[in-house]
Amino acid sequence: TLGLMSYDPGYMNTAVCTSRITFIDGEKGILRYRGYPIEQLASKSSFMETAFLLLYGELPSEAQLKHFCARVYHHQTALHADIVALLQTIRHDAHCMTSVISALAAMSALHPEANPALEGQGVYSSRKTRESQMFTLLGAFPTLAAHVLLRRSGSSVPCLPAPSLATLLDPARPRAYVEHFLVLLGLGKARPGEEGPDPRVVRALDAILLAHADHELNCSTAAVRHLTSSGVDVYTAVAGATGALYGPLHGGATEAVLRMLQQIGTEERIPAFLEAVKAKEAKLMGFGHRVYKNYDPRAVLVREVAYEVFQVYGADPLIHVATALETAARSDDYFVSRKLYPNIDFYSGLVYKAIGFPLDFFPVLFTMGRMAGWLAHWEELLMGPEEEKKIVRPRQIYLGPAERAFLPIEARG
Ligand code: SDX
Repeated sequence: TLGLMSYDPGYMNTAVCTSRITFIDGEKGILRYRGYPIEQLASKSSFMETAFLLLYGELPSEAQLKHFCARVYHHQTALHADIVALLQTIRHDAHCMTSVISALAAMSALHPEANPALEGQGVYSSRKTRESQMFTLLGAFPTLAAHVLLRRSGSSVPCLPAPSLATLLDPARPRAYVEHFLVLLGLGKARPGEEGPDPRVVRALDAILLAHADHELNCSTAAVRHLTSSGVDVYTAVAGATGALYGPLHGGATEAVLRMLQQIGTEERIPAFLEAVKAKEAKLMGFGHRVYKNYDPRAVLVREVAYEVFQVYGADPLIHVATALETAARSDDYFVSRKLYPNIDFYSGLVYKAIGFPLDFFPVLFTMGRMAGWLAHWEELLMGPEEEKKIVRPRQIYLGPAERAFLPIEARG
């Protein structure tokens, strides 16, 4: 026995911080942002209003929301020429997540006031400076993401809004954030040749960003808190978090689900696929969750959004494969006994595909929504109690060999 200790694997799930932002009850399928149920926010609020709620803790007044949207919109409509130039140097067929990670990391170099390594104030700067950084990231991200896609389609200059659309893109409009993003890409129109995105598509994408905005201490949000605890700037912290979100077990699942549905192809092939899953030869992507052990309330919302978008573009045949797959898994003891139900990623890809986004852009859209939550956690950590600002340094449980003396090579046999 090499000094092996017995330990409870559950140890790895112990809480690592306190927060006042998001509450989840995994058994009851409850999700609340600052106390407001996700279902109420999804039906009554907008992504920008919810981003304000996450960042400041209260729903905004009309004047506060107008000011907040205008500040974000200023960065959304900026050209970000340096970052766009950097994006031009990245292979146009690179995975979209690698491009946006590069763009976010590069923002650190362009904002020395935030970067401790460049003698900047770093994360310990004033709240006013940090607020400016939050607006910059919330606003710049969709525009930089749009540039990544535009580059792939060969057009480097964004299709800036036609003059008549400029009035449409009044930042005070509740969903101008999403409208601007879709207009840059020329997406969201009900029919080619229409001037602007269909309001149903705008509302659908806005609701999906809202549903993705925060989710307690998931892998990528934990990454933001880890990186921030070392004193690094917010741009580097969210670049690291985006790397965590990229993984197929996390935000990358939204892309993996679509690839899985395309691979299955028809309802007739579902039983064989599920047998492969039970034989551990495949994973049922978009199913299961570390916290939700009944159902993910967001999966219900996103499925409803999918049907709203299908009213504009017609139903994707893969929705029938997805719903049949969900029905089959929900009645199969292998999945029920392991408490595996659809999570937020199971239906979101069908919405993105209907609107016209390529598969490797799906996690970028997840990132766009989650940016609000990451920034809320970043700010909460920096405004929080001193003892919670200590560098995050989890301990391990050592299972290696006990102490032993060095062996010269000739004696090693
Ligand atoms: C997100 O944390 C968050 O809040 C994340 C998120 C957010 O908003 O930030 O909600 C977003 O990332 C959602 C999850 C997206 N990922 C996927 O859909 C990938 C597929 N899902 C799995 O990889 C898995 O379910 C996880 C990673 C999501 C959760 O893994 P757990 O809770 O650690 O589950 P586990 O590995 O302990 O599995 C328990 C059992 C195992 O079987 P046995 O060893 O008991 O035989 O369930 C099986 C697993 O093999 N299992 C699955 C499965 N998920 C778990 N089997 C097949 N398909 C799956 N998807």
